[in-house]
Amino acid sequence: MTFAHVTGWGMAVPEKVMTNEDLAQIVETSDEWIRTRTGIRERRIAGENESTASLGAQAALEALRVARVRPTEVDLIICATSSPEHVFPATAALIQNEIGATKAGAFDLSAACSGFIFALNMAAQAIRTESIRTALIIGAETLSRFTNWEDRNTCVLFGDGAGAVVVQGSELPGGVYGGVIHSDGSGGDLLTLPAGGSRLPASLETVKAGQHFIHMDGRGVFRFATRVMAQATKEVLALNDWSLDDLTWVVPHQANYRIIESAARGLKLPLERFIINLERYGNTSTASIPIAITEAVAEGKIKPGDKLILVGFGAGLSWGALGLEWVGAPSEEKPIHLRPYLWWARVHAWYQRLVRFIEGLLWGRMAR
Ligand code: UT7
Repeated sequence: MTFAHVTGWGMAVPEKVMTNEDLAQIVETSDEWIRTRTGIRERRIAGENESTASLGAQAALEALRVARVRPTEVDLIICATSSPEHVFPATAALIQNEIGATKAGAFDLSAACSGFIFALNMAAQAIRTESIRTALIIGAETLSRFTNWEDRNTCVLFGDGAGAVVVQGSELPGGVYGGVIHSDGSGGDLLTLPAGGSRLPASLETVKAGQHFIHMDGRGVFRFATRVMAQATKEVLALNDWSLDDLTWVVPHQANYRIIESAARGLKLPLERFIINLERYGNTSTASIPIAITEAVAEGKIKPGDKLILVGFGAGLSWGALGLEWVGAPSEEKPIHLRPYLWWARVHAWYQRLVRFIEGLLWGRMAR
């Protein structure tokens, strides 16, 4: 039997910090309102040269370093994102090129803030059925690019960043166990980015109407979130035959402290058993769970043998959870040097472009 172990993890956040006080200079809000209603104190905002793919690639490289996995060993890259670089090509493919994972298939997964859990669940299943051996799962966002800085209902909530994990097949028990994924499309209008897709293509009118920004019914999403967080966690406990006492940590989607409190109440579990870091990053959507995991491991909170449940919710509506037994990083001392692979990635990309150029010339001649 093959298990799907998480053997590497990493995160990347922009340098620029935006505090609640900074926001109070832009919209009618206050540090007090934001802190008491959400728990957020500050968030990171991508600079001009940062993007969803660049943050995702940085987090991915860090995860590969921890797992001591070469980019060329990766079979599959899934980038869960709500703020892709383009409608197409997939942000995952841009990351694949950036990190030199030349043998990997790469695609994006769109399930809003639940995307990381959905992607990890899918990749673990592919590993358990032995159709692949190594996967890189990334949650990456630059939601600040879709934020209406005049809408205080939404602009105080979101932040930019990326997190990633490496998942590898192993004969030893541990790693990703059972998980659940759920959707309720009837609630799609509660949280949406209305224009820029095929329903409402970009036009002067859509831009003027602010339809390329995030639109949200905050109270509606809040009610839905408080209902499903504890419910999905209980489903995963039952699925894996775990009791609450078996559970070391719950790693929730970092959207709002009050939503996490409500989940804790619903589970009758003390808040101390939840990994929470939203005060420093805000809601980074698909990136929030891998960022929280990466920090918790660095702080020595998550340790090998710990049993975790990751649980999240988001637009769609979507929600899900999965069980994860932490196995830690491989114990070999030898670090992996990624620089040669990054050089090789550049050479490989230029070679491929040259081949396409020559192909174009030859086809042109044949057509004449
Ligand atoms: O990943 C999923 C993403 N989305 C979420 O997680 C959102 C879930 N929802 C929430 O977190 C909360 O609903 C919010 C934080 C968005 C809002 O908190 P709330 O306690 O539900 O506030 P509310 O929407 O009921 O608004 C209360 C008042 C309103 O004023 P009135 O109508 O009572 O006069 C708002 O206009 O607070 C006002 N308000 C603000 N005031 C100062 C809304 N946003 C702000 C703000 N600063 N930023």
